[in-house]
Amino acid sequence: MRKEVYGGKVGEGKLYNHGVRAGALELMLSGVLGAGAGVVVVAVASVLVRGDEIDLEVKSPPPIRHQPLEFLSSIYTKETNKKTMEFALGVATHFPSCSKPQIINSPQVRFLSLKCHSISLSDNSSTGLAERPWKVADARLVLEDGSIWRAKSFGASGTQVGEVVFNTSLTGYQEILTDPSYAGQFVLMTNPHIGNTGVNFDDEESRQCFLAGLVIRSLSISTSNWRCTQTLGDYLAERNIMGIYDVDTRAITRRLRQDGSLIGVLSTDVSKTDEELINASRTWDIVGVDLISGVSCKAPYEWIDKTNSEWDFNFDGRNEETFRVVAYDFGIKQNILRRLASYGCKIEVVPSTWPASETLKMKPDGVLFSNGPGDPSAVPYAVETVKEIIGKVPVFGICMGHQLLGQALGGKTFKMKFGHHGGNHPVRNLRNGSVEISAQNHNYAVDPESLPEGAEVTHVNLNDGSCAGLAFSQLKLMSLQYHPEASPGPHDSDPVFGEFMQLMKQEKQKA
Ligand SMILES: *[C@@H]1O[C@H](CO)[C@@H](O)[C@H](O)[C@H]1NC(C)=O
Ligand SMILES: *[C@@H]1O[C@H](CO)[C@@H](O)[C@H](O)[C@H]1NC(C)=O
Ligand SMILES: *[C@@H]1O[C@H](CO)[C@@H](O)[C@H](O)[C@H]1NC(C)=O
Ligand SMILES: *[C@@H]1O[C@H](CO)[C@@H](O)[C@H](O)[C@H]1NC(C)=O
Repeated sequence: MRKEVYGGKVGEGKLYNHGVRAGALELMLSGVLGAGAGVVVVAVASVLVRGDEIDLEVKSPPPIRHQPLEFLSSIYTKETNKKTMEFALGVATHFPSCSKPQIINSPQVRFLSLKCHSISLSDNSSTGLAERPWKVADARLVLEDGSIWRAKSFGASGTQVGEVVFNTSLTGYQEILTDPSYAGQFVLMTNPHIGNTGVNFDDEESRQCFLAGLVIRSLSISTSNWRCTQTLGDYLAERNIMGIYDVDTRAITRRLRQDGSLIGVLSTDVSKTDEELINASRTWDIVGVDLISGVSCKAPYEWIDKTNSEWDFNFDGRNEETFRVVAYDFGIKQNILRRLASYGCKIEVVPSTWPASETLKMKPDGVLFSNGPGDPSAVPYAVETVKEIIGKVPVFGICMGHQLLGQALGGKTFKMKFGHHGGNHPVRNLRNGSVEISAQNHNYAVDPESLPEGAEVTHVNLNDGSCAGLAFSQLKLMSLQYHPEASPGPHDSDPVFGEFMQLMKQEKQKA
């Protein structure tokens, strides 16, 4: 388990051990609740780790009906914690059918077990148990292939059209929610259990959520994380983003894997017929839409935040020197800015439409072209800007930035059948043969055959041999199709930021 989840130093000390136990308990309880029909749920507990202590709190009496079954809950904690007792008693009081909790206290371990027997489905009046706290089906996801998926909604309500894509990341849902590359898309998480770490202030990748909505199998009923400041549901509702859960995400993923992405409509509006929603999904199209202008910042601003010292790594190759970088925001992820700042850059972030002449007037040491959503061919103005800048100052392109550089050099980009999406893509660095595991998220790629002489393919994706990185040394140009800033994802490619610093340094020395 990771430090991000449980606090403390991995494998060291009480805090970490307690965190792991508390987290395991929470997962167990949520798992039982999420498991669906036929399973008893005994308690909704929130487990908090504060300092050296674990707090177990019963948030609400669990108003759940269920099938005959037994439930056994065991809590291990070294502390003789008053809350633990209350937890057990709370459960026993609200479920007349539960046995008295057995508590075994030994000097090392405190063990608590509860057994609850079946309550028949017709019982709810006599036991005081109500229906589940949420409504059974109050949302529909309708796909352009005509399929209708009934689900429960959380977050915002309304009707929304978008492209449905899936994401296989196990963690990092907050980074995904705030990644501008998902503008216009519904992200379906294949990991069945989402929300258990809540959200926090530090994991934002942009100023807001740009995606169209979130589709998940099971929403965690409680949050358990030392950095958590809000639940996922509240967070989405506040940002007016729709979410649905209790859908068969596996079945939808299989469909998407077969057909590529599909357009879908998500609705909580009961007055709309299925047919209307299907029609809406069939009349919407994402190809050729300029999604960048919707996500880019509206005015230039300065960026100074570095990666928080607690999470920073990879100090080799850092410069004492400071470089002034202009970063074009095509939907920039903040971790690119944090990594550049950690490597010693002072950054001015500018909108996608910022004129090249203005950028050159700022006399930067380098220019970064960021990642962004959609089709590079939908933003010819950005290609023109890139053309005017290359050759004049060192430039670095990431993802969309790489594709724009490809086009600016005279090359072609094309839409891939499925694109590359994942935190585990192997890439070979052709310059020294080393292989990096990388985070990738793109539907378009540069065709290396179409590039002019002088352009060098520096990285290839080992899954399909496609172009994953470019350089043009005369033009002081470098680019990657994937995400060296990770977030979420492996950090293998982080040293490439150091290479950009070297490029700027050489140019500075020439001057
Ligand atoms: C149980 O509760 C549900 C929801 O509150 C209600 O619709 C149903 O009629 C109740 N069943 C009985 C047997 O009282
Ligand atoms: C849906 O589209 C079909 C074909 O264009 C049309 O015949 C039908 O009336 C539409 N239905 C609704 C409810 O808009
Ligand atoms: C999931 O999201 C992360 C962050 O945006 C991205 O790096 C990764 O490629 C995505 N994975 C899939 C399978 O879409
Ligand atoms: C190859 O270059 C990359 C990027 O500079 C570096 O991270 C990696 O360690 C190098 N590998 C070897 C085997 O030198």
